[in-house]
Amino acid sequence: MLRILCLALCGLLTPARADPGALLRLGMDIMNREVQNAMDESHILEKMAAEAGKKRPGMKPIKGITDLKVKDVKLPVITLSFMPGVGIFQCVSTGMTITGKSFMGGNMEIIVVLNITATNRLLQDEETGLPMFKSEGCEVILVSVKTNLPSNMLPKVVNKFLDSTLHKVLPGLMCPAIDAVLVYVNKKWANLNAPMPVGQMGTVKYVLTSIPTTTANYIQVDFNPVVQQQRGDTIQLAGAGEALEFPKDSAAGSSQLLLSAAFLTAELALLQKSFDVNVQDTTIGELPPQTTETLAGFIPEVAEAYPKPKPLVTRIRINKPPKVTMRTGKSLLHLHGTLQMFAARQRGRAPVSLFLLEIHFNVKIQYSVREDRLQMATSLDRLLSLSRRSSSIGAFNEKELTGFITDFLQEAYIPAINDVLQVGLPLPDFLDMNYNLAELDIAENALVLDLKLD
Ligand SMILES: *[C@@H]1O[C@H](CO)[C@@H](O)[C@H](O)[C@H]1NC(C)=O
Repeated sequence: MLRILCLALCGLLTPARADPGALLRLGMDIMNREVQNAMDESHILEKMAAEAGKKRPGMKPIKGITDLKVKDVKLPVITLSFMPGVGIFQCVSTGMTITGKSFMGGNMEIIVVLNITATNRLLQDEETGLPMFKSEGCEVILVSVKTNLPSNMLPKVVNKFLDSTLHKVLPGLMCPAIDAVLVYVNKKWANLNAPMPVGQMGTVKYVLTSIPTTTANYIQVDFNPVVQQQRGDTIQLAGAGEALEFPKDSAAGSSQLLLSAAFLTAELALLQKSFDVNVQDTTIGELPPQTTETLAGFIPEVAEAYPKPKPLVTRIRINKPPKVTMRTGKSLLHLHGTLQMFAARQRGRAPVSLFLLEIHFNVKIQYSVREDRLQMATSLDRLLSLSRRSSSIGAFNEKELTGFITDFLQEAYIPAINDVLQVGLPLPDFLDMNYNLAELDIAENALVLDLKLD
């Protein structure tokens, strides 16, 4: 009973707060580019002009002005600023010429310069779980108004008239433009949480942990990535509790992606089976021939059992999920498994096991980005332990094999690992991000991708 109570209570007291496996910081550089692109792609200017020409049902005609037309909409200048806790404040400065027949009878021309401002609140779409901007409080501010109306009219009267008239017309004309731009920006998040393949072995999905947060300098998106095997099992991210932190020295306003070592570990778990390798070539790079004769140079017992040289077959099995660790400037991949050596026999006959060693070694990882995927290349760091589990040639001192096996791992096994790693790991797909320009840096427990614009 007590145990059940504790299970229930303890569960409540320590909620399984998932530490994010990946963090994204979007600075103003990226947001500016996005909004500018959306502005261009949405052809908003053309639409605004077309909209202006339309007769809208239900819209009251403006007293005293007939035949109202909008022309020469000026190229808008967009200014964005972060609103902590809310999202982005957007100001679109533009201008236009409004023509019509004035109540005085003549042709009227009004040249207005205006600012359209709105708050783009950053939310999480409940249905899709994706980040979403929603505009609020759109306002049109007249910056300047010039007219060709007769000068004998009192400026005060004109201004009052224009002010009330333009304030009636313009928001209906301009505010949909802000919404239209946001539709384009929002679309650029659409692929973010779609599963992306890691070769044939599984998929990765970048799922948002919570609503993105906005500070004075950036928008932060926390991810709880879902790593799933092809047959559907989810690989849990281990190592929760290692807080992820952005490097202190990153430039203000810049954008970064942080991938935790725990997340990369989970992704590599997808590839664990592919790290099992059989090597049966007798000539490998600079290595001495892979035969019982060479082996006998380290373990005399082999010569007794095999007076005539036989080719060696080596089988490596990785029996624990590979683990990625990161310390400033250095990242390692830890591999635990077995190395079994066999003496080959005549065609069609199974090779004979000589011995089976348990091995633990680590390889240094070098990261890069190619075709928007994270690439890893490894080189042997250190053979950490070697212990004999079984032998058909009697007891021997396996430490004598340290050099032989170290060379074998470097020359024969590492190239095989690097081949497997060529699949690359998918990076979050959002806002048409081009990762190929990113600068990579290894921090504590995380890989930092400094995102650059093209
Ligand atoms: C209009 O927007 C521009 C650019 O953001 C700004 O410099 C200017 O002060 C604004 N004018 C008014 C009247 O709000």
